[in-house]
Amino acid sequence: MSTQPKRKIIIDTDPGVDDAFAIVTALRYQGFEVLGITTVAGNKGLDYVTKNALKLVEIMNAGCMVYKGANAALKYLDKPVDEIKDAGDTHGFDGLGGIKLPYDLSKLSDLPAVDYILQTVRNYPGEIEIIALGPLTNIAVAIQREPETMKKVKKIWSMGGGVYRGNMTPVSEFNYWFDAEAAEITYGIGEDVDIYMFGLDVTYKTFFTANDFFFLKQEGGELGRRLYDMSQDYAGSYWKNRRITGAVIHDLVPVIYAIDPTISHEEDVYRCTLNVCCEPGLVHGQTIVDLVDRHKYPKNAYVVLNADGRKFKEVFMEIVFGEVAELYKKYVVS
Ligand code: BDR
Ligand code: CA
Repeated sequence: MSTQPKRKIIIDTDPGVDDAFAIVTALRYQGFEVLGITTVAGNKGLDYVTKNALKLVEIMNAGCMVYKGANAALKYLDKPVDEIKDAGDTHGFDGLGGIKLPYDLSKLSDLPAVDYILQTVRNYPGEIEIIALGPLTNIAVAIQREPETMKKVKKIWSMGGGVYRGNMTPVSEFNYWFDAEAAEITYGIGEDVDIYMFGLDVTYKTFFTANDFFFLKQEGGELGRRLYDMSQDYAGSYWKNRRITGAVIHDLVPVIYAIDPTISHEEDVYRCTLNVCCEPGLVHGQTIVDLVDRHKYPKNAYVVLNADGRKFKEVFMEIVFGEVAELYKKYVVS
């Protein structure tokens, strides 16, 4: 038994199939105490993603509560919205591949997500790590309300952005595109708080192949089958849209890196200046990352550009499935 105190984690999320992989891993990892899960509209509307978070809490038998957050991007909050933009059916009609899972409404707190985040950071200054797997709306609202409190967050591990690629426009990634203003506000505290960006550059290095999904179904027990089943629409969209067999489990990357940063080399991680473009059009949500540092602007981000995809998946298998990971290491060519 480790005598190390557990790290205090809040997961901010819009589940989402890849969010689900990330959440089950964080909940299984012995070194984390997941204090709460806050939800944000993104992949689907707030009601869907909140129900999905409750489902994940239920199937993992987790002790934490779920806190409902922003139902739209910052600039649409408190405004009538005709049409809520989401990720369509990429993650299935309900965001979790349409599979049947139980949930328990008593795990849904009355406390709004932002109040919960602020209260928890006030209670544990310098100790809270936020794993942010969706648009950064809740984090930005918390910063707008109490910037000094949010500067006491220990770390923010954020999936979003991309230096050399996009998935919503040629240069913008979904989470930061969905709420570019929130992402820019969040990196505004990046001189005080260590904010790690895991963009599409690194997530594509950790691609799950059809073999990897097959292994989950064969050897992962009930949880592995559920992850496999919920991934079918998601992997199907990679095939239909890009003729790729397999899928990128983007949101798992910040979780695995937070657990084991040796999946990346030191030279893959840049302490740098990062801006998020809030202009309309194709550039909306683009991350402008100064890797060259000619202008010596204040540095507000750690940008992770590369990872060892095989090691990443082995760490995931070990944490979530224990000994079965040995079979994966020995027999599965990914
Ligand atoms: C991000 O967008 C969402 O669809 C995924 O859950 C992930 O957080 C990838 O661009
Ligand atoms: Ca997500």
